[in-house]
This record gives sequence, structure tokens and C-alpha cells, in this order.
Amino acid sequence: MHTLLLKDNVKDIRTAGEILINGGLVGIPTETVYGLAADALNPAAVASIFKAKGRPMDNPLIVHIADIGDIERFSLVSEFPEKARALAEKFWSGPLTMILPKGKTIPDEVSAGLDTVAIRFPEHKTAQAIIRAARTPLAAPSANLSGSPSPTTAEHVMNDLGGRIDAVVDGGECRVGLESTVITLAADTPRLLRPGGITVEQLESVIGKIDVDDAVLHRLRDGEKAASPGMKYKHYAPKARVVLVRGDGFCDFVNKNADDKTAALCYSEDADKINAETFVLGSMTDCDSQAHELFGALREIDREGDIGVVYARCPEPTGVGMAVYNRLIRAAGFEVIDLEKL
Ligand code: TXA
Ligand code: MG
Repeated sequence: MHTLLLKDNVKDIRTAGEILINGGLVGIPTETVYGLAADALNPAAVASIFKAKGRPMDNPLIVHIADIGDIERFSLVSEFPEKARALAEKFWSGPLTMILPKGKTIPDEVSAGLDTVAIRFPEHKTAQAIIRAARTPLAAPSANLSGSPSPTTAEHVMNDLGGRIDAVVDGGECRVGLESTVITLAADTPRLLRPGGITVEQLESVIGKIDVDDAVLHRLRDGEKAASPGMKYKHYAPKARVVLVRGDGFCDFVNKNADDKTAALCYSEDADKINAETFVLGSMTDCDSQAHELFGALREIDREGDIGVVYARCPEPTGVGMAVYNRLIRAAGFEVIDLEKL
């Protein structure tokens, strides 16, 4: 299959809309990461997303809308609780996904058989224009091959899925760089399932106390059920071994343990002090930059091919740093060295 590379203009967005109306797959830019979109109400189209990505069928998809009214118009949920309304008012459009009791139009392929559905209203103008051109909500997971870092440029999408999907719309680099915050409002207490650009503090400022699911910061124990199926898979893993290093003395630790196949994933303040190849995520005080750079850096590490181990400086899991930590610890397969405990 030839994959069309489309531009962010009226004619190409119309083409993307037609492909989607006809059941095809299109890579679309959003403010978080690129998504692999299909008509959310067309079960065959949705099934082809799983095939193109090599994604397990038990991992449900997010439904993307371009207007809050789409929820009612397409009967996407069976209930829209007051807290959901308050969050929508404050953070939509934007990088927040809400899990709600699913409506009657949602195919089982989207919800992976659960009785809930994930809804997101992306802020990216091109994403909104494509949803409107398709005249239907779009199911879209991140547009990477299952298991590799999420794509933050159209080139990343082409590298992973070129030849497997109909088209990619190039809308430039994603602003946030990590996937949306996921919160469930289908439980008694609202619970964070995946941290992202909208922080726990921001959510709590609108709806009060929320729970943070155990799987956000810790490895699930054997046999434990994931509230969000995506959290049970090893994710974002580059081919090199990634090890998180926690505590003061990161640079000394790397220098002591480095050989010519070692690299460091670190902050700009560290780079000069390290005698190994470095991949810099930005300043240690700038979580937004760390989020923005992380997936590109993981892809860069893979491209070099001959790196054996990457020591990654462990971020503080607060604010947007919680999202950076959550992705990094999965890239590391939960392997952490605690310098204070050595
Ligand atoms: O920023 C994003 O959210 C991007 C862009 C494209 O919108 N999308 C994205 O989709 O990251 P994906 O499929 O890579 O991640 C969706 C996550 C998965 O962990 C999935 O298990 C979870 O959301 N999820 C989806 N529906 C769910 C549901 N009904 N209940 C619990 N978790 C759900
Ligand atoms: Mg994903």
C-alpha cells in the first residue's frame, strides 16, 4: 500500500476526510502525539487500526470529537456526570481524556468489550478540521507500531506505519509530546489512569480529590488487573536497555559505569559533566521541555543502533514530571537504580 503524505491545507484535509468516510486509516496530528485515526462508528475500520499497529485487541481506543455536542449527537456515552461536565468546561479542547459509561453506538472493537468509552476533544486545529471533514468521531490510538515510542512528528509516523496505512497529515511537531491525561469518571471516585499534560493538581482544582491508580507509578503485581489495559504492556521501549537512576550523583554514577556503548538521558545542566554520549531533555526545572523531547530522544537512541545501555536521570514525579516519570519507567521496564540505597 502506498501511504499518501498530506499537508495541513483545505484540499488535503478534505482528502483525509474522504479516506476516513470510506473506512480508511489516516495518521493525524494532535497537540499530544500523532494518532492513527479511523471512523469510530465503523467496526471494520476500527479493526484495521489494530492490524496496522500490531495492537492487542483487548486494548481499547480513545474516541476523538471536535465539539462537545458530538457526544450527544452520536450517542457516545450513556451518562455525562456533573464532574465530567466541569472538567470538559475547563480543559476541553485539550490533552485530557475522560472514561465514561459507553453509549449504544460504540462498537465493541473500540471499547474492547468494556462497558466504558474514552472520549477526548483535541485542541489541535488540524485534528479538529479532520474530524469535521470525516463527519464522524474518530477512534485513534497513538500512531506508532505497538511497543515503540509514540510519534511526535509526521516523519515518525511514516517510519513506523508507512506502507501500512492510507495517509498521514503533516501538522508539524506536537506541542505536548506525551499522550493525554486519562481519568476515569466511571468509578465512584475519579481516578487518574495515565498522567499527561493536564496535571493531578489541575484536575483537583476543579473536581476535588482524585485517586491515582497504582499502575501509574508502580509495576502491576502478577495477576493484578489493569484498570486501563494499556498500562499492562511494556511501552515506549527502545532497543537499548534503559535504566532509571535515582538520587544525587547521577553524573558520577554514569562516568564510573560508562563504556563506549553507554549513553545518558539527562538534563541540560548535566551534559557537560558526563563522559559519555548524552541525549538532553532540557533543563531540570522545565518539565514541559522534558515531556516534549522524551519520545524523540528515545527514537534517536534507537537510530544510533549500537547503544547498549542508557542511564536515564529519574525525574521527580510531580506536575507534568509525573507523566515523564510514568513513560520513562515503562521504557526502562521498571528497572531503577537507587543511588541512596547502593
Ligand atoms: O494523547 C492521546 O491520548 C493520543 C492521541 C492520539 O489522542 N492517543 C493515545 O491513545 O495515546 P492510545 O491508544 O495509545 O492510549 C489510550 C490509553 C490506553 O492505555 C488504553 O488502555 C486506555 O487509554 N483506554 C482507552 N479506553 C479505555 C477505557 N474504556 N477504560 C480504560 N482505559 C482505556
Ligand atoms: Mg499508545
